This record gives sequence, C-alpha cells and structure tokens, in this order.
Amino acid sequence: MADLMEKIVSLSKRRGFVYQSSEIYGGFSSCYDFGPLGVEMKNNIKRLWWDEMTKKQSSPAGGIAGLDAAILMSPKVWQASGHLTAGFADELTECKDCKKRFKKDLLSKACPECKGELTPPRKFNLMMKTLVGPVEDEASQAYLRAETCQGIYMNFENVLNSMRFKIPFGIAQVGKTFRNEITPKDFIYRTREFEQMEMQWFCRPKDADIFFNRWREERLKWYLDLGIKKENLRAIEVPEKERAHYARKQTDIEYNFPFGWQEIEGIHNRGDWDLSNHSKYSGKDLKYYDEKTKEKYCPYIIETSGGADRSFLAFLCDAYREISGGRTKTTESKKETEVLLRLDKRIAPVKAIVLPLVKNKPELVKKAKDVYRMIKPYFVCQYDELGSIGRRYRRADEIGIIYSLTIDFETLEKEDITVRDRDTMSQKRIEINKLSEFLSKEIK
Ligand code: GAP
Repeated sequence: MADLMEKIVSLSKRRGFVYQSSEIYGGFSSCYDFGPLGVEMKNNIKRLWWDEMTKKQSSPAGGIAGLDAAILMSPKVWQASGHLTAGFADELTECKDCKKRFKKDLLSKACPECKGELTPPRKFNLMMKTLVGPVEDEASQAYLRAETCQGIYMNFENVLNSMRFKIPFGIAQVGKTFRNEITPKDFIYRTREFEQMEMQWFCRPKDADIFFNRWREERLKWYLDLGIKKENLRAIEVPEKERAHYARKQTDIEYNFPFGWQEIEGIHNRGDWDLSNHSKYSGKDLKYYDEKTKEKYCPYIIETSGGADRSFLAFLCDAYREISGGRTKTTESKKETEVLLRLDKRIAPVKAIVLPLVKNKPELVKKAKDVYRMIKPYFVCQYDELGSIGRRYRRADEIGIIYSLTIDFETLEKEDITVRDRDTMSQKRIEINKLSEFLSKEIK
C-alpha cells in the first residue's frame, strides 16, 4: 500500500497536481504547492462544498451564509478559544543527541535513528506566531489562525443582524489555516499550512443532538455522492478523553488511505464553549434573544470541519486505478499497465482534450485548434498532438480527463468529431456546433 502512495505522489508531481514547496532550495518541510491540475481540482472541491452549504442546504428560519474573515485576528481570540493553552498542544519528547522531536503517541512507530536518550514528554503548542507592525515586541505578537471557525464566531452577531437570520442558521467559510505540526507526514495529509472548509450551525441547546446527527449524515453523503467508495469511508465516535478541548461530542469522518484509516473531517458539538468564552473575554454579551419564546440563551454550535487538502488526497486515492493487459486495444497498451483516474466529473480538473488524429495533416491540426479555441473559454481543456492516438488517450486517462475529442478526416467533411468517454471508452460522433451544449449537459 505504501507503494500506492509513492505512485500517487509521483503522478502528482509529474502531471502537475502537487509539487513540493521551494523545491529548488531542497524543499520546505511539509509545505506543498498545487500545480495547474491541482489548483483546478482543489477549486472544484471547494466550490462543490460551498455550493452544497450555501445553495443546497437551508432551514425554514435562516440558511447558511458565507464569510471570508481575516487570517490575522486579535490575539485575545486565541486566549478565549483555549488555543493558547495546553488544550491545543502535542505531547513531545526530544532526542538529547540529534535534537529531533517526536510525538509521544507516535513513538512506537518512529524512533530517533541515532538511538539517543529521550527527554520526558512536554507540551508543545501548535499555534504559529507572527509579528504585526514595525516594532518587534510582545505587543506586536499575533498568530496565524489555527482554525477558520474563530473568524465565524467573531462575526456571529454581524451576520445574524445583517442577514436578519433567526436561529437555527449557519455560517460557512473556506480558508487557509496554520499549525506548527511537529510530525507533518503522509504527503499533503498533515501539513503546516492547509485549507479548511468549515460550517458552524447555531442552534438551541436542546436541538443540538438532532442537528449533530443530521450534519454527520449530510457530510457522509457529500463524500459518497462525489464518488468515494462506501467501504473506504467511516464515521467514528470519539471518546471523551480523545476529543478536542472544545468538543462535547465528536465524530471523525475517516478515509481508508494507503497509510491507514485517517480523519478527513470532524463533526463537533462545541456547545456554548466559543460564544460564552468570547462573551466573557470581550465583555460583549453574545446571547441570542428568541422573540417567539422570549428566551435568552447562548446558542450551541454544531460544526462540520473538513480539510480541502485531505479531501483532495482522499478523492485522488479513491479514483486511482491500474489496469493491466490493454484497456485500450493497441499493441503498445497491451504491454503496459494503464493508469485511470476515475474522478467524479465535477471534481476532475480537466474536462476535455482535443486531439487531431495525426499531426502532419495541417487541415486536421487547424480544425482541432479551432475546436479547442471554441470550447476553451467555457471548459478547462487541453490540446495534444504528440504521439499515437492510443498513447494520447492513455495520457488523458491518467489525469482523469473526461472526454477525448478526436478530429479525423470525416470531421472535415461532416463537421462532427469523435467523443470518447474516459470510463466506458465508448465513442460516438457529435456535431461540432452541438459540442458545447453536450459538454455543459454532461459536466454539471
Ligand atoms: N474547527 C475544528 C477543527 O479545526 P480539527 O479536527 O482540528 O477541527 C478539522 O481539523 C479538519 O482540518 C481535519 O479533519 C482535517 O481535514 C483538517 N486538518 C487539520 N489539521 C491538518 C493538517 N495539519 N494538515 C492538513 N489538514 C488538516
């Protein structure tokens, strides 16, 4: 299985999904750059999540509104949220010889290579510090946010008032998050800079359990609907002593990665932890007044907290297939193992590729370039004229391109092209002037 991960990392680099950050300087530990295909795919994932939350989900009272809060916030936010204290820390031991640090709970898997003596474990906070302003003193100390949701809590009242929402309602946000992870690993699975897709649902305390269950089901459905295999997804209830410091209840949604079952999203009942602490620390009463029941209370928060990078990796692993013995029936392909990236059409980074049957016939090349120019403003697509048609199909399959559009001699007479489907390899002819309509309908 480790082998599979190596193949995915190598494909990611070779074809432009993910590169190591600052590679020419030897890389920058646990930071990655999303390449031309990676950024398209990640944008698709984030957009699908955004649409799911802000367009498809609603409640009679309110709905879910979007937000884009600043990454930098008052350091007081992080005092109130509990992130500057022991709750948001890893327990570490350090090797006295090589000075490498190891997470206590992972020691059985990783030991200092130098076999040096270890220090007793101590807590290491994960907040990433920065300095704001021209003077480098304690007063200029700030933090890069360690979860996007704190920006949502800062704007709970603003959104409530400007949208004239009533409880229950939600606020959704996608954005960068930073954690000084001690043991970043498994490619983009655990990094120091990543993106979260978080939705905070504000509700009456007595409704919290019902909404917790509802959101857990909704989130599982989202992954399954986008093609994750059922046997590779599970929801695990987290026992009290392992929960995040703010969680009264926690279910982790896990994916069966090549390196084992690992969390990709957390569903949390945060109770009134955040709003009551922010009320206490800021002096601003964040309680909600229910006009109907005349009750005043601190809303409970049900949070769905997913990672764009971890979902990306899960979708990539789930879609990866190797097929030996000639999926495409050419002599070359029979000798090779073919890679097929069977991504959902909505997630696939490239929707179509335009291929002149041969490159040494100027009239075919011209027509192919015309078709490419026609669809390019509306669909992410590529043009490829290098190598045999079979080889070009295989290159397209490897990055999950949904339709291969071949321009052949018949095209010149009949103004139609061959459309090959990535998954079934079935081919049909479509008139060029109906191509955009076909693609729009198929790739929603
Ligand atoms: N607001 C709640 C919260 O932040 P979390 O379980 O700490 O909860 C939520 O993080 C999600 O953020 C995780 O399920 C994961 O998808 C993503 N995430 C957390 N740490 C990460 C890291 N170091 N690298 C990549 N993604 C990470």
